[in-house]
Amino acid sequence: MGERIALYPGSFDPVTRGHLDILERACLVFDRVVVGVLGNPSKSPLFTTEERVDLIRRSIADAPQVEVDTFDGLTVDFAQRVGAIAIVRGLRVTSDFENEFQMTLMNRRLNPDVHTIFLMTSFSNVFISSSIIKEVFRLGGAIDDAVPPASAEALRRKFAQGD
Ligand code: PNS
Repeated sequence: MGERIALYPGSFDPVTRGHLDILERACLVFDRVVVGVLGNPSKSPLFTTEERVDLIRRSIADAPQVEVDTFDGLTVDFAQRVGAIAIVRGLRVTSDFENEFQMTLMNRRLNPDVHTIFLMTSFSNVFISSSIIKEVFRLGGAIDDAVPPASAEALRRKFAQGD
């Protein structure tokens, strides 16, 4: 059997400790993990695609098993292009479930050969999401324990520019 590759897709706007937690777990299960950064997510991103990719790369400096790439279009199509047998998604709290369930069934309908695997974050990361981090940061709250240093720095720079 060849290499077992997984695709970990998302907006990563910006990458959080929750994402890195899922990525680490995915690396324990798969030989190689491709992090797929969606170029144009429906929720208009704070960071450009290049910035989001750069933040992930800087946060996983020593991970030869991991590749970071961008994609547009359907996630299942990108999964097939990179040879992934599975899409990995993180599950946090029950509110994630409905949307994830819907996406999984649609992706399965689009391509039954690509499976979706859910991994759970550690308890300390259960309440972290990129959206909540951006909101808390914007309102002056502390976010340093929820994101890698590269993301914290990038948020400071972005908001200092008045974006
Ligand atoms: O980090 P996010 O925003 O929760 O990631 C959502 C993502 C990128 C996985 C999802 O929006 C997606 O797969 N978009 C690509 C378009 C697509 O394939 N849509 C059909 C999925 S049912």
